[in-house]
Amino acid sequence: MSEKRTKLFDEWAETYDDSVTKVSGFPFEGYDQVLETIVRLTEPSAGMTVLDVGIGTGNLAGRLTAAGCRVWGMDFSTRMLAKAREKLPGVELIKADLAGDWPIDVDLTFDRVVSAYVFHEFDCETKVGYLRRFADQHLAEHGRLVIGDVSFRSVKARREAHRQWEGAWDEDEHYWAADRAIEALGRSGLVVGYTQVSFCGGVYVIEPAPVDRG
Ligand SMILES: C[S@@+](CC[C@H](N)C(=O)[O-])C[C@H]1O[C@@H](n2cnc3c(N)ncnc32)[C@H](O)[C@@H]1O
Repeated sequence: MSEKRTKLFDEWAETYDDSVTKVSGFPFEGYDQVLETIVRLTEPSAGMTVLDVGIGTGNLAGRLTAAGCRVWGMDFSTRMLAKAREKLPGVELIKADLAGDWPIDVDLTFDRVVSAYVFHEFDCETKVGYLRRFADQHLAEHGRLVIGDVSFRSVKARREAHRQWEGAWDEDEHYWAADRAIEALGRSGLVVGYTQVSFCGGVYVIEPAPVDRG
């Protein structure tokens, strides 16, 4: 499955930026605001270490480096990584498949793990599994995950949007429904805050539940 998806993203790399910023409607309505919301909820500061999962052409990473963060970017598409390299020569790039070997080949923990428009590649259970592993293996103490994506407030809102945007809906993708995702992440011991940014874009702030030492 990943080989087919890698090819798709390699082929998309050249025109990607135009396709997310110059269109309106589903699925990228509010793309810039979603990235800005991720940055705001990241609370960036000089020297903060950040891993951008699925860095793509570097649109989110660029905002975070501008805010003084030290950014690492991972992606499985060689051509997306080449675009990110052109724009952001100072960012450390890691070629890795989220669905491949684990842990990713970087022996580091980060103050923040961020991602934009990537996790809809995976069903709800797989999303939760990967996010739990990032929290356990790549998050520094008091760190947080900030994840933006195609996301609806509820399963009901997602169903209604599916009906309305039938032609643009990719049946192989798994767009988030916040009510269901928050419940599933909670069962996995993660505490979640959610911001709906556009009708189809939202941002999750995810932290490990505090350990009860009593
Ligand atoms: C829709 S683009 C988003 C890019 C960027 N984060 C942004 O917001 O503009 C999805 C990115 O995730 C990467 N990606 C998708 N599935 C992946 C996987 N299994 N492992 C690593 N990267 C993946 C793609 O190559 C692509 O660069």
